[in-house]
Amino acid sequence: MPAKAIGIIGAGAMGEALATGIVRAGLVRPADLYMTDVRRERLDYLQTRLGITPLTDNKQLASISRVVILAVKPPVVGPVLGEVASALTPEHTVISIAAGVTLAFIEQRLAPGVPVVRVMPNTPCLVGAGASAFALGRYAQAEDAARAREVLEAVGIAVEVPEEHLDIVTGLSGSGPAYAYLVIEALSDGAVRLGLPRQVAVRLAAQTLYGAAKMVLSSEEHPARLRDAVTTPGGTTAAGLFALEEAGVRAAFARAVERATRRATELSK
Ligand SMILES: NC(=O)c1ccc[n+]([C@@H]2O[C@H](COP(=O)([O-])OP(=O)(O)OC[C@H]3O[C@@H](n4cnc5c(N)ncnc54)[C@H](OP(=O)(O)O)[C@@H]3O)[C@@H](O)[C@H]2O)c1
Repeated sequence: MPAKAIGIIGAGAMGEALATGIVRAGLVRPADLYMTDVRRERLDYLQTRLGITPLTDNKQLASISRVVILAVKPPVVGPVLGEVASALTPEHTVISIAAGVTLAFIEQRLAPGVPVVRVMPNTPCLVGAGASAFALGRYAQAEDAARAREVLEAVGIAVEVPEEHLDIVTGLSGSGPAYAYLVIEALSDGAVRLGLPRQVAVRLAAQTLYGAAKMVLSSEEHPARLRDAVTTPGGTTAAGLFALEEAGVRAAFARAVERATRRATELSK
């Protein structure tokens, strides 16, 4: 196998996002990025767009790739593992992004010693701004963590967590883009109600969330300190924040994360 070849099984939305990031970051030569999918047209498209090498056999992909990424829907993971298990060795790193599919489920279907990394990504991976958390399986070493981090950082940020935290990650960053869309919509609705054109309001609201997020990520400060820094006593921001506290927005977001986490736990059983 080429020393650094990467294989992606499943060329759907996430498979394409990862392939795009991997090629852009130059992690492997495009021709050393192997992909399979039951839809031939997806592979043709990605071969044309990125220069990847399409394959028709998942087992062949596994035997010639050092890192094997499972980017199929959760119910397909079991059958795919059945196809590739005999080709996977302790030299491989298996990375699964399938929501709710546990490390134990995957490890039970592979030979002892095959390193597995379970990832919870989110949709902004599609625009290179993903927030992914990953957990290491029982055979995964620092080298496997580094390989997973390298792939995930090609499409955003990546943090390592113990597997028991992945449902919370699902409730926070997995479902989080939808919460952010709702906030953008609600803020712009407020401005539209006061007379601002919708298109202007949505652009300003979205950029405001983006800018605030960038401030948080580029500083070591607790968000509360950043908030305090922009809240002049007796000023406009203080008045706006009071309305949010009055409406219980802080508790509502905490509940959203809690409910989504609980649902993730129910669904992975
Ligand atoms: N999208 C997200 O934001 C997100 C977030 C977190 C986790 N995930 C996880 O990421 C995984 C992929 O999600 P996605 O949205 O990219 O799904 P998707 O668009 O459905 O992509 C999966 C692709 O794999 C193909 N496929 C099915 N069986 C296959 C097989 N045996 N061998 C090779 N390819 C096969 C599918 O073809 P068919 O459509 O014909 O079946 C499809 O093209 C899922 O497990 C999901 O839980 C996604």
